[in-house]
Amino acid sequence: MKLTAKQLVRAEIAAISAYPVHDAAGCIKLDAMENPWPLPLALRRELADTLAEVAINRYPDPHGDGLKDQIKRVFSIPAEAEVLLGNGSDELITLIAQALARPGAKLLALEPSFVMYKLNALFSGLDYVGVPLKPDFTLDLPAALAAIAEQQPAVVFVSYPNNPTGPRFGRDEVEAICDAAPGLVVIDEAYQAFSSDSCMDLAGRLPNVIVMRTLSKLGLAGIRLGYAAGAADWIAELDKIRPPYNVNVLTQATARFALRHIEVFNQQAERLRAERRRVDDALRGIAALDVFPSEANFITVRAPDADALHQHLKERRILIKKLHGSHPLLDNCLRFTIGAPQENDALLDALHSYFAKP
Ligand SMILES: Cc1ncc(COP(=O)(O)O)c(C=O)c1O
Repeated sequence: MKLTAKQLVRAEIAAISAYPVHDAAGCIKLDAMENPWPLPLALRRELADTLAEVAINRYPDPHGDGLKDQIKRVFSIPAEAEVLLGNGSDELITLIAQALARPGAKLLALEPSFVMYKLNALFSGLDYVGVPLKPDFTLDLPAALAAIAEQQPAVVFVSYPNNPTGPRFGRDEVEAICDAAPGLVVIDEAYQAFSSDSCMDLAGRLPNVIVMRTLSKLGLAGIRLGYAAGAADWIAELDKIRPPYNVNVLTQATARFALRHIEVFNQQAERLRAERRRVDDALRGIAALDVFPSEANFITVRAPDADALHQHLKERRILIKKLHGSHPLLDNCLRFTIGAPQENDALLDALHSYFAKP
């Protein structure tokens, strides 16, 4: 008799569900922090011509060297740092967790934060340590430093700014964590395009720091490209477990094309920052909502009844992220991705109609 999949997989994997992605057909999609705008038509045509020349019968450049050099230039990565490319930064998180999963090794993250940190601890068999943020989602630095001293984690993940809450921690706080950590600190700057600060200057300068970013939030979520910058010895170890051709030829060619037109993406990010200010002002005008300050392309709020408001928006075909239920500190919280102006208007109209109800 054959054993079933459920019998064979590890109990902790059998116990969880796959990452939920909702059907977005016909909806205003404000749930996944995507850039709402496609490339201008002329650039899309040029990109099509570029991609037509790509040798899809060949394996990709295994190291993506040309692309790495371009990334270093465009994103001002310090000369001392080496770069590793991932199939999204999701893959980089996986590689880091896999590399560090010695028996008893610990992965520490602030909570609530990006769910993939904890999930990758589970997948790779690292012990997970979560340090709660303060109720206003600022960092509880004494608690973080105490946990680091006590738990001696192999790796600490810091989302800077933090998803799913929005605030960016203090630069001095992150530096204190880098100083105190006995192992690696990964500063995840997925939302850097919308933030007032970056720690990229630490990459290659502090021996135990990797700064990780993604092109997803900038407007290229579909191509799946993340990069990590850090000291050469860390990047060399991680490179050993990277699947040899993890960044495919179409992604490499699209990224190289996109980076030659980085000003288009930077302008879009600037427009999203302006929209974030407008949406933030409007949300603060709704007395029933608690609005958390955001340095990312989303705004998280606390509502009187997150389930009911989520349902109201769903009925209006507006997809947002219900955070309520995922962590005690996220009680009644919802996360709104900043979209195009008319999408944000639709969200604000739906919120006004909900809160105008007697
Ligand atoms: C903090 C953070 N890091 C990493 C990622 C993963 O990005 P990607 O795999 O698209 O590069 C996300 C996605 O939402 C995120 O919020």
